[in-house]
Amino acid sequence: MDVCVIGAGYVGLTTSAVLADLGHHVTCVDKNKDRIELLNRGICPLYEPGLEELMQKNRSRLTFSDQVGEAIRQNSVIYICVGTPPMPDGSTNLSYILSVIDDLATYIQSPKTIVTKSTVPLGTNELIRKLLIEKGVDRELFKLVSNPEFLREGTAVYDMFNPDKTVVGLEDGDTASLQVMKTLYHGIDCPFVVTTLNDAELIKFSANAFLATKISFINEIARICDRSNADVTTVASTIGLDPRIGKHFLQAGLGYGGSCFPKDLSSLIHSATEKGIKPAILEAAQFVNDTQLDFYIEKIKEHLDDYSSKKVAVLGIAFKPDTDDIRSSRSVLLIEKLEKLGLQVVAYDPKAKLPSENNHGATQVDSINEAIKDADCVVIATDWPVFKSLDWNEAKKEMKGTLIVDGRNCVDPLEVRKHGLLYVGVGRI
Ligand code: NAD
Ligand code: UGA
Repeated sequence: MDVCVIGAGYVGLTTSAVLADLGHHVTCVDKNKDRIELLNRGICPLYEPGLEELMQKNRSRLTFSDQVGEAIRQNSVIYICVGTPPMPDGSTNLSYILSVIDDLATYIQSPKTIVTKSTVPLGTNELIRKLLIEKGVDRELFKLVSNPEFLREGTAVYDMFNPDKTVVGLEDGDTASLQVMKTLYHGIDCPFVVTTLNDAELIKFSANAFLATKISFINEIARICDRSNADVTTVASTIGLDPRIGKHFLQAGLGYGGSCFPKDLSSLIHSATEKGIKPAILEAAQFVNDTQLDFYIEKIKEHLDDYSSKKVAVLGIAFKPDTDDIRSSRSVLLIEKLEKLGLQVVAYDPKAKLPSENNHGATQVDSINEAIKDADCVVIATDWPVFKSLDWNEAKKEMKGTLIVDGRNCVDPLEVRKHGLLYVGVGRI
């Protein structure tokens, strides 16, 4: 099929490369000209394992352009993959979606299947239909599909080829679009869940909210373990054996960050509140996450004094391993808090860069060794494999102090302690 993907970010680029690999002809468009220029030179503007290679493999079926209108005109399927960031009040900023609707209204002249992959609040696809009609688009010329995306950054390519489900929200009686979606995803083996537009939108928010709640749950248990001389990793792995609970998303630590959980939880809380529902569980999950960093800050304060003379090495800047994404990264927030205490912060990450704004003086270095040299304290903020397998004997030789703060409960306390270092995690003995 001929597909236009609007938005060349994590989701848009992965969608484009995967659809091209499945044999479709894809034009991926973005208003960011610099991004398109890089893509046209064969360079992926973001770090996502395997994505650049997949784009190169399929370059005969994959083109990049900043000409959004032309791409809308020339393709019968239009994927919307633009960002839906948070507003200060927690609601979703729909301005990028609205800008796409303007372009669709201007350039639709032949029948289109419009597939919303961006995460959008309940009722957004109905809003898209209303706005397109108001802007004069012939109702016969477009069908709407809500096809939320469940990929994780760091494993985006694998996740899109191997989803546990494909959710397809359709307008009443629209069997034609179901056929289009089956053709698009032919070759991907997973259950097809056909729903209404509204259900598909809410499925996406519920999935993210549940996973975020699971993380906050284990973080609360970790705090209880911490005060009780109990080990949260043992508790988590054991309760996880019960298939009703499941072992995933029970890793306690600094809390969840990223471009999705924090904003999607806020958006769902906002939507629920607007509908007169008190979202007590969602608010509690958010509260635990928002206060989890302070728990670590207290621990660091307990073990260090005279902050102005102390150096802290923060290992990890990205919100999770295998990505360069720092949106709502717990590590970046932690660094800001450490700097405010007056500590000298030196950070290292294999791929991510410290943001230039809100940076009160933390420096970023190019190697783990440079970061930990003469450090009084080392904090593991992102569980990159290279940090999990650090040689603690060598680390001890480089450091000035002995404090190791494991912000992801990802290293073995005994391994650290046996080299004379002081291990601090959350809920670990
Ligand atoms: P992103 O910020 O990486 O990319 C969005 C891209 O859209 C940017 O390159 C931007 O320039 C472009 N854009 C914005 N407005 C445009 C317009 N009017 N025309 C053309 N291009 C435009 O975002 P992302 O992380 O890929 O997320 C996209 C959507 O997918 C969001 O709704 C997000 O919640 C959802 N989602 C993201 C992930 C993830 O892991 N990142 C996973 C599932 C769902
Ligand atoms: C998450 C979901 O997992 C995807 O299914 C979803 O598509 C995506 O959001 C989205 O909607 O954008 P992602 O944000 O890429 O994916 O990363 P996750 O692996 O879910 O991790 C999110 C955060 O939770 C990270 O900061 C991670 O460190 C943290 N986390 C994760 C924990 O603290 N503990 C865990 O057990 C798992």
